Amino acid sequence: MSLEKKDEFDHKGWMKEKDLTPVETTYLTALIWLDTRLRIVDYLEILETLYYRVNLQMPKSHTEQYNLDNKFWYWYPLYTLGLFSTLAYIVAAISGALLGFYYSPATSGDPTTAYSQIEFIMTELQFGFMLRSVHRWSAQVMVAAVFLHMLRVYFTGAYKEPRELNWLIGIVLISLTMVFGYTGYLLPWDQLAFWAGQIGVEMSLSIPLAGEWVAQLLFGGFTLSQATLQRMYIIHVFLLPFVVTTLIAIHIGIVWVQGIAEPH
Ligand code: HEM
Repeated sequence: MSLEKKDEFDHKGWMKEKDLTPVETTYLTALIWLDTRLRIVDYLEILETLYYRVNLQMPKSHTEQYNLDNKFWYWYPLYTLGLFSTLAYIVAAISGALLGFYYSPATSGDPTTAYSQIEFIMTELQFGFMLRSVHRWSAQVMVAAVFLHMLRVYFTGAYKEPRELNWLIGIVLISLTMVFGYTGYLLPWDQLAFWAGQIGVEMSLSIPLAGEWVAQLLFGGFTLSQATLQRMYIIHVFLLPFVVTTLIAIHIGIVWVQGIAEPH
């Protein structure tokens, strides 16, 4: 400590009063007066500790802890992409449940019931075209947001220890998001759906050894039929929602417990 600096403190190490502005003097006098009677500094510290314990997702940030100041501020908007994926998922789930009031996965009739129900939603149901568009757009926004979220996690190094497990859950989530997209794409049972389904069957058949078994299990055979549409429907509206909702909850739960990683 330089000589001038030393002069600013008295023999107890307290800052000499002459260096304080009137506002500081008033604040400190009031604080000391209150503290000697109510121990408020102790309680404020307890409150601060409690705040950090309860808000595990908001521990002192890396930037605060290591005094990085504002070096990394430009990354921060990208930290909203996970939440953005969650919101897109919720919108897709709600609009999808409403579409479910009108859709039926049946391949009977010409045009098929599935296709004519989509026609009904698009042309006759009030705001049906909007409901379907909200569902398709939210689904596509979700795919894009999840992908960008993964890039953010990768480029900020947030997948490293201790977050490897959440990275792996993320890989499962992005894969299931794509399965959501694929199974949903088949539901209108139009030409696009039909030929995408055909490609799916052929891709399954190309798997060594287990190919035929996979095609039977997922598509109900080697050509498209009622069994195919029914499977896509149940995967899309029953199996995936359960699994993906649970995994998102675990994924966000882990983020809550571990806290957000900041750029290294
Ligand atoms: C349905 C898909 C997903 C949802 C809803 C989701 C949601 C979230 C949310 C809300 C966060 C908090 C931080 C943030 O928003 O950036 C987060 C963090 C994280 N996510 Fe995801 N995520 C998904 C997919 C993925 C994917 C595909 C990966 C990587 C393969 C991944 C890996 C991680 C990791 C490692 C963290 C911790 C990051 C950190 O601590 O900074 N997530 N996720």
